[in-house]
Amino acid sequence: MSWKKIPFLRWSFWRILFGMKHLTTEWQVGDGREARLVEYVTKNAKPGDLADAIRVVDEYAYNESFLINVGDEKGTILDDAVRRAEAKKILELGTYCGYSAMRMAAAAPDAKIYSIEFNPDNAEIARSIHRHAGVGDQITVIVGTLGDGGKTADALETEHGFTSGSIDLVFLDHAKEAYLPDIKMIVERGWLHPGSIAVGDNIKFPGAPEYHAYMKENEGTLWKSDEHKTHAEYQTVIKDIVLVSEYLGPK
Ligand SMILES: C[S@@+](CC[C@H](N)C(=O)[O-])C[C@H]1O[C@@H](n2cnc3c(N)ncnc32)[C@H](O)[C@@H]1O
Repeated sequence: MSWKKIPFLRWSFWRILFGMKHLTTEWQVGDGREARLVEYVTKNAKPGDLADAIRVVDEYAYNESFLINVGDEKGTILDDAVRRAEAKKILELGTYCGYSAMRMAAAAPDAKIYSIEFNPDNAEIARSIHRHAGVGDQITVIVGTLGDGGKTADALETEHGFTSGSIDLVFLDHAKEAYLPDIKMIVERGWLHPGSIAVGDNIKFPGAPEYHAYMKENEGTLWKSDEHKTHAEYQTVIKDIVLVSEYLGPK
């Protein structure tokens, strides 16, 4: 195991823990690492090369500053789910710097990805990286949240063609307490079809217990889930679970 996979030896990991309050209110670590990522990708990734942009973001997270991306290990579970869903239209909740959206764009080159991000600065960082990687047209980053009383959800319907059964995959990777109300809203709005897949990150760490319980309660009726035991991003010590849930549709 390389030392880079042991974050406890790295200041940039501890900086995240000290900055946890800032991170969970502002959704940036607070030391400028997200903005510096744009410079790093622009300098080090070949323009228009999506795979290279993904590689360079991982390199930055291992070697420069730890980031709260889904990361390379859990990212392969997301890639597999996107391929299994044969996704043409994807909804992501929680863009951050745009890493997972790029992974999904690579796994489904014909898909359109709509990524919802609360923090306008993060949205702009992601858009810059997506433009550099050549996927600025494939990925639309929208500033908002599904918890804003219907404003963002209505905009998805009127401006972005979110109609009945139109979403093949939803990736939940935002505020953990928002997973459950947001998946319920998505179901109520009828955007999913039987066979659509919901992928929930951080089910074990930091944890999304209400969402996890909801999927268990509805196992075999509304949803059919697989738990993927894995590790939190960019290290091999903290365990995590990614929950991949197939929507069965109302019975
Ligand atoms: C863990 S990061 C997302 C990482 C990203 N999916 C990746 O793997 O590259 C969480 C992001 O969700 C955003 N966020 C938090 N709560 C949100 C909400 N209720 N709606 C939309 N975005 C939210 C934060 O601003 C932050 O950028």
